[in-house]
Amino acid sequence: MAESKKIILGIAGGIAAYKTPELVRRLRERGAEVQVVMTRSAEEFVTGTTLQAVSGLPVRSNLWDKDAEAAMGHIELARWADLVLIAPATAEIMSRLASGAAPDLLTTLCLATHAPLVIAPAMNHVMWSNPAVQANRQVLEARGVRILGPDRGDQACGETGEGRMVEPDAIAAAVTGPTIVADVERPPLIGRKVMITAGPTREAIDPVRYISNRSSGKMAYAMARAAAAAGAEVVLISGPVELTTPDGIQRVDVESAREMFAATHERIDNIDIFIAAAAVADYCAESVQENKIKKTEARMSIELVRTPDILASVAELENGPFTVGFAAETENLREYAISKLEKKNLDMIVANQVGRNRGFDSDDNKVDVFWTAGEQSFPMMPKTELAVALIKLIGERYLERSAPGTRGELADRARIIHE
Ligand code: PMT
Repeated sequence: MAESKKIILGIAGGIAAYKTPELVRRLRERGAEVQVVMTRSAEEFVTGTTLQAVSGLPVRSNLWDKDAEAAMGHIELARWADLVLIAPATAEIMSRLASGAAPDLLTTLCLATHAPLVIAPAMNHVMWSNPAVQANRQVLEARGVRILGPDRGDQACGETGEGRMVEPDAIAAAVTGPTIVADVERPPLIGRKVMITAGPTREAIDPVRYISNRSSGKMAYAMARAAAAAGAEVVLISGPVELTTPDGIQRVDVESAREMFAATHERIDNIDIFIAAAAVADYCAESVQENKIKKTEARMSIELVRTPDILASVAELENGPFTVGFAAETENLREYAISKLEKKNLDMIVANQVGRNRGFDSDDNKVDVFWTAGEQSFPMMPKTELAVALIKLIGERYLERSAPGTRGELADRARIIHE
């Protein structure tokens, strides 16, 4: 039996709330102390009396409870919990959590706690697939909220689809393991090798001058950090940037597109996923002047030639890695990105609209991702959060490609929950 964990079970107002007395019992059987916090709508589906009887603690639902410590019940509960579990999590509560709205005790304590947050969504399958709900799911996942399910099957509304709350026993098993959250979702890229190109390249004109661009490397470095956090071994082929190397990552510094090409191909064997986030110069000077060019003429021109396309060359490799490109566009984002996906024969492309203070050298980014069978949009968010969401998506598509039908997201979740 697991050691005693203090779990706040938040219950939101969905029909699956009728399963929560059972969930409380399963959690307690596994040694957890359970404090139930209900929303007003949850009280429409299950009574506080029942939950108090099975949890052995008075149920809390009032943000303005005068009996709670110094009338700040949310702070007291936030400090008490080792883990906050919301089951069922409705579309409404996901939206509140994503936006930071805190009109009641449950959402307020979620803002005030350092404890990990796990949610088990449950709703009609059409609601679950609604883009607004999926956008909230992404925001929450990117912030580290662990999401269990939902499962696919018959629903209380009489329809069938993905939206059933994961069964109480499976939820209890997932959240009461020795390391709690680590057991909920195993890092998806464990044992995989990921190579990421980063930053700008510099194409020399003479010993002191070069052609370059405004890439800061922030997006690529965030991707590297997120891939490492997902369990991957990461090789970062980096152009000149002013960023520190994330822990545990092998960084190879290069300057020009040709150097980046060579460094990539020297290490590409055994790489599972190749992510080209670098802003590689498309042209370089045909010949680099040995000495500093003197300003003798009123006009001058430099003959430029194409640089090697690193991404396309990796995508061409026989038995090569899963390839992900980034497309930086100032117009016709979708059309140009899809054409790059096809022309370069990529598995995925991440399209960002760039311009002055957009995409390049900013802390936030907004992208649309395309692959042959689908697409997904991510709202404007910090590059650090976006990277976590992108690595998750890339990992899912990669796993699907490498073992179709056996490592899809649902299968993976079911395996994790039932282990
Ligand atoms: O570095 P930041 O300031 O954080 O900004 C992030 C970013 C905007 C640079 C990043 O999100 C991004 O979009 N990177 C790719 C920029 C780019 O070069 O896009 P492109 O559309 O020109 O190239 C398409 C793809 O081909 C890219 O994956 C690129 O890395 C790759 N490429 C391009 C040319 C070349 N010679 N070799 C390549 O591998």
